[in-house]
Amino acid sequence: MIYDILKMGDARLLRVAEPVREFNTAELSELIADMFETMTAANGAGLAAPQIGVNLQLVIFGFKNNQRYPDAPTVPETVLLNPVLTPLSQEMDAAWEGCLSVPGMRGLVPRWSKLRYEGVNQFGERISREVDGFHARVVQHECDHLNGILYPMRINDLSQFGYTEVLFPELDPNQDD
Ligand code: NI
Repeated sequence: MIYDILKMGDARLLRVAEPVREFNTAELSELIADMFETMTAANGAGLAAPQIGVNLQLVIFGFKNNQRYPDAPTVPETVLLNPVLTPLSQEMDAAWEGCLSVPGMRGLVPRWSKLRYEGVNQFGERISREVDGFHARVVQHECDHLNGILYPMRINDLSQFGYTEVLFPELDPNQDD
């Protein structure tokens, strides 16, 4: 089932999500399948459960080739529950981000360059990875959704925030975002 994605301004995007306590259930696996279907339909690089109104610490991300981010390297398809992020250096990078909850816009967002993320998958199996680059950025963006943070709240210089069609006219104008 394809869900409607909540848009910025909806108070449900501002909540702190609850930890997932039961793993490997039919309900959870259906929710995750629906999230992948919803993300794929929207050409997203990631999706957090709060974006479909489900207030759980659950994010999915990953892609081989993403139309919205044509230059981004591959990120493995990942289901991550109850994540904890730890920066591995003080270094930050700024890069352009969009969000399915902020359609049609992009902003320049500083993120930690390198981090470790830990959590579990839908079966309760431990995940621990050290990542950098776009992979690190996607994880930080998605996990922010679990704390009620949308990327515009992270922009340092709001002159670097605008409409995708204006900032990046070379991207497909038929894309929603
Ligand atoms: Ni987002």
